[in-house]
Order: sequence, then C-alpha cells, then structure tokens
Amino acid sequence: MSTEIESVLIENRVFQPFQNLVEGAAISGMQAYEALCDEARKSPDAFWDRLARENLVWQKPYTKVLDESEAPFYRWFGDGQLNVSANCLDKHLNTPTANKTALIFESDDGKVMTVTYKALHARVCEFANGLKALGHKTGERAIIYMPMSIEAVVAMQACARLGIIHSVVFGGFSSKSLQERAVDVGATLVITADEQVRGGKAIPLKAAVDEALAMGGCEAVRHVVVYKRTGGAVQWQEGRDVWMHDASANQPAECEPVALDAEHPLFILYTSGSTGKPKGVQHAAAGFLLWALLTVKWTFDSKDSDVFWCTADVGWVTGHTYITYGPLAAGLTQVVFEGIPTYPNVGRFWEMIQRHKVTVFYTAPTAIRSLTKAAESAPEYHPREYDLGSLRIIGSVGEPINPEAWMWYYTNVGRERCPVLDTWWQTETGGHMITPLPGATPLKPGSCTLPLPGIEAAVVDESGAEVGRGKGGFLAIKRPWPGMIRTIWNDPERFKKSYFPPELKGYYLAGDGAQRDTDGYFWIMGRIDDVINVSGHRLGTMEVESALVAHETVAEAAVVSRPDATTGEAIVAFVVLKQTLPAGEDADRIAKMLRDWVAKEIGPIAKPKDIRFGENLPKTRSGKIMRRLLRVVAKGETVTQDVSTLENPAILDQLSQAH
Ligand code: PRX
Repeated sequence: MSTEIESVLIENRVFQPFQNLVEGAAISGMQAYEALCDEARKSPDAFWDRLARENLVWQKPYTKVLDESEAPFYRWFGDGQLNVSANCLDKHLNTPTANKTALIFESDDGKVMTVTYKALHARVCEFANGLKALGHKTGERAIIYMPMSIEAVVAMQACARLGIIHSVVFGGFSSKSLQERAVDVGATLVITADEQVRGGKAIPLKAAVDEALAMGGCEAVRHVVVYKRTGGAVQWQEGRDVWMHDASANQPAECEPVALDAEHPLFILYTSGSTGKPKGVQHAAAGFLLWALLTVKWTFDSKDSDVFWCTADVGWVTGHTYITYGPLAAGLTQVVFEGIPTYPNVGRFWEMIQRHKVTVFYTAPTAIRSLTKAAESAPEYHPREYDLGSLRIIGSVGEPINPEAWMWYYTNVGRERCPVLDTWWQTETGGHMITPLPGATPLKPGSCTLPLPGIEAAVVDESGAEVGRGKGGFLAIKRPWPGMIRTIWNDPERFKKSYFPPELKGYYLAGDGAQRDTDGYFWIMGRIDDVINVSGHRLGTMEVESALVAHETVAEAAVVSRPDATTGEAIVAFVVLKQTLPAGEDADRIAKMLRDWVAKEIGPIAKPKDIRFGENLPKTRSGKIMRRLLRVVAKGETVTQDVSTLENPAILDQLSQAH
C-alpha cells in the first residue's frame, strides 16, 4: 500500500490564543508547552512519575512507573494500588468541593436536578453497598445499558468503587448487540432502566435487556438492576430483577473503596474495527484515570468556577473520559443532558448553555453541522438569539471538523472570543492526544494542531519511517502513554495485530491517515480505509467533503469510493443540500455545479464521479455517518448488513434511488 496521500487541503488562517486565556492557564504559552514536551522526551518515566504523584491519590504507592517487558502489553504503575471512585469523589470530601454541585442534570423535558459532590458520594456508596449485598464482587463484569442520567454516573462510579469492570452499551444499540457484548465480557450483572426518553419519546430499555438475555449465552447474569426512569410497564423476573432504588435503600452512605491494582481493568468499551466484530477495548484503572484528569486540566484548562458540558453519551468513550471520570476527578460542576439537540427545538443546546452558564462546551462536528443547517431554516433558534457570554472554550471531537463548520462554530457559538479545540483521540487512546491548548496553541481551522506533552505522534509510511512534512501517511504514536488501551478483551492477538503491526517498529498504529504541515501541525485525513485512490492519486475523503461543504448550497456531505474500471477507484459523494431535495434536471444542474466547484477547490482529480442527493445521511444514533453502508450503496448493491443501529434506515433507499 502506498502511503503518499495527496493532500490538497489548503487552509492559511491562523488564530492566536486569546490573552485572557493565556494568563493563568495550566499550560500558559508555547514556551510552557515546549518545556513540558522536553521534560517528557528527556525522561519519560520521571515525567509520568511526577504527574501520577501530583494528580492521583494512591492507597499503595507504586515503585515502577512503566514495565515494558511484555510490550506491547505495557503496564503502568503496576505495583501501586488505588481506587478510581475514591479519586473522583472521596478526594473532595474534606475540601470546599464537597458542597459544590457535581452534576446538573437536565431531562429531555427540561426538568433540572442537581447533586453535590457529597451527595453523589453518598449515592454511589449506597448503590455500591447494594451491589455488594446482592453478592457482586471485584473482578466481575457488568453491562450498563442506561439513559443519560445521574444514575448512569452513579452506576459506573459504584462499579469502579468495587472493582466491577463495567462495559457500557449505548442505549441506541439493539438487543442483539447488547447480547453479543454481554456474552463476550461474561457479564454477571446488567444495570439498565425501564425506559429512556429522547425527543419526547419513551423507548424501552429493560425490554431490550430481557430480549438480549433470552437469546442465550448470558446465563452468568445473576441480576438485572433497573433504574425507574419513567415508570413504564416492564416485565419482571423475580429473583433476577431488582429496582435500583431498592438496591440502594437502607444501605449505609459509606462504602470503603476497594484498593485495586493500578492495572486492574476499569472498563471494557466496544468499538468497531475496520473488519470483524466490535473490539472490547480494555482500559486500566490508574493510567486511564491519570490521563482523563490530566487532559481535563490541560486541554480544557479547567477552573474551579467552570460549568463544563460534554454533550456525549456515556455509551461512548467521550462520555467515560469527559463525563464520568475526568471532570469529577477535577472537581468540576458539569451538565448532564438526557435529550437531543433538536428537541423541543433546534435551539436546545444554545438555550442550555445560556440557562446553566456553561463555560466549556464540548460537542461533535456532526451536531455542529446539523445545527448550522437548522439555524439557516429556523433563524429564531440561531445561536445569535441566545446569551452565550459565559462560554470561554468550545471543543469538538469524533471526526474531522471541516474548516467551514469550524468557522461557523467559532463565529456563531464562540462569538470570536473562544478557541475551538479540535481534539483528536480514540476509544483506544483513553483521552485527548492531539489537540490545541487554549492558553498556548495558535489555531488553524481544520487542524487538531499539536500532540499533548508526553505524546510522541508521527506520520509514518508502511515501514514505520517518518514521512516528510506535507506528505500523507499513517498516524502513529511512538511511545506508550498511561491512558492507552491495554488489550482487546478476550483477544490479545487481535490487539497486537491491529495496533502494533511488526513493520511499524512498536509504534501504536491509530488507523487514521494524517499529514503534518510545515509548522508540524497535524491534519487528520480520516480512517486509512477512507482514503481513496483515483488514478494512482490518493485523496482523503475528508478533503472532498470539506470542499463540498464549503459550497453555500451544501449542508452535509459524505464521500466514499467505488471500484472503477478506468481510474481504479471513483469518488461518490452523498450530499444533503440546505434546500429541499432536488430532482430531474434540477439535480443534474446542481450536481454539475458541485463537480465543477470541487474541481475548482481541489483539482479535477477530486471531482466526484457520482453525486447523490438525500434529505440526510445514514447515521448511527450517536451521529456518526455510516460510510460502510454508503460504500455499498455507491456500488449500486443492496444493503444486506445489519442496519439496526441506524438512526434513519429509510434514508438508504432514498440514496440508492437518487439521481
Ligand atoms: O478517525 C478518527 C476520528 O474518530 C476515530 C475514533 O473514533 P472513536 O474511537 O469512536 O472515538 C471517538 C471519540 C474520541 C479516530 O480514529 N476522530 C476522532 N476525533 C477526531 C477524529 N478525526 C479527526 N479529528 C478529530 N478531532
């Protein structure tokens, strides 16, 4: 495989850090950033040792920072012991943070509930005691299948307190996916809710659990603990099913945090690989916690006065690191939101920022793009209609944010006074890896900028050699870091093969294409498997998408490849217009206009061979575009894959027929 990804993305705008954010920042100015990077490079062990001592509360101190003897199965702080929940909650009890609001929960229908650190600690302890009383112990695995709620955080923290390894399954996944994960982890416990509420609709969760468990293979599950969210009807299996409030009732509000080995698995989270079934990414207690806390402090430059809001669901890694663990370990007040950004109207996010005086807002490009589109057609819900003056930092995660969306976010939400932090990371990395720092890094729209201190990122070819600036290649990480994946649950061989292929000299292979510009800034070009080869020229799909989205008529675009007899691969673009769906000659005309536009923006080589229009793109319920399915549609084939995780399966028919 050639690694020459031809990059044609040209973005010259640079935004210097705001002086008010430089002053007093955790990492203040580029010199401070460079100094930390140097410290890490010169003596990585001493660097991580200092940070682990300064930031974590240890029940038993470690004597060895990093054990590389069985690389790539790295062990961090291996002989030390701590408890993650104690580091998120107990640590604050005898400080002013105890009476501070930990969580501001806003329900789908707008009801607000708050809980202080002290109260959250009590609720976690009561529930942990309840789980103990049911006979659940350290080392067991629990599936958590819950809506966004205070209870979901309580469930995860209670597991962490006891050393029960949790595997959260996003509430939008089907019962089949749930069953597969429960089987793979060998779950003995499932924690769920009767129903979840999103966009005014109640969706059953307990029923899906019942269905999953009835499929067989999960006989080890002894209890299903149910949070009563709506009071909707549920079937009940006596002896197995327990209400969460009953489990916690009459339990003491103190529960000794179990001293766990640093490498004890904290959680397993399933994520899709490029092939095969989802991989159970396993994270270790101490290293993950350290990285979650450090990245909250560094990237978000957290302040005691912050109101932090990460809009992710706890079913994804972003919700683990930047809801359940990092912000609590940092003692922040944070917003937890049950609903969706478009209910009861498309101004919901902006209204919530205004209502809760959010200072740090962290969301996904897909949300930004869809709200951009919505704001055009419903100007009364445009962000400019709200008081967003509390914001000081706005962030983005999950996929490349194209310069167009970046600028919209920067201008309309950040009001040109908040940095946009384009944070690159993955389920496997545990936390941010390449990201701007608000008090230091000059920003370039569309670039995730520079690696965090301690992270040695590089762009390499298939032999592991670094490629020159301006050249595309594989994004790789040269040294281990504490927050990294430890293994794939039940499949150490796949772990080695996927992330540490022998030809890459022991570097961690991220699976993304990237390039560095002359300033050393990283530009992520999408998954390696999303790179298209047209007539021997490699192009990042993202670049074509960026060009399309930059056109004033385009709301959203996804680009995939299709085999082509002449050019090897051909580009197929799926486009959502800001206007209504075009047909006939109108569609032909707009398609031609867009092709010419891409040719002008990038070059004739990037012209999509085929442009299909739809009212939307096929997305998972977390908002990720399912390019895998688009590739099938692009080939003119019928989709036979499981589409149960799609938010909008009907869109596939429309795109198949379109134009
Ligand atoms: O392709 C990259 C993309 O999302 C992948 C990781 O997905 P996941 O494990 O689901 O984690 C998402 C939340 C961290 C990466 O391999 N990705 C994530 N963040 C960015 C990104 N691509 C470009 N820019 C980003 N900021």
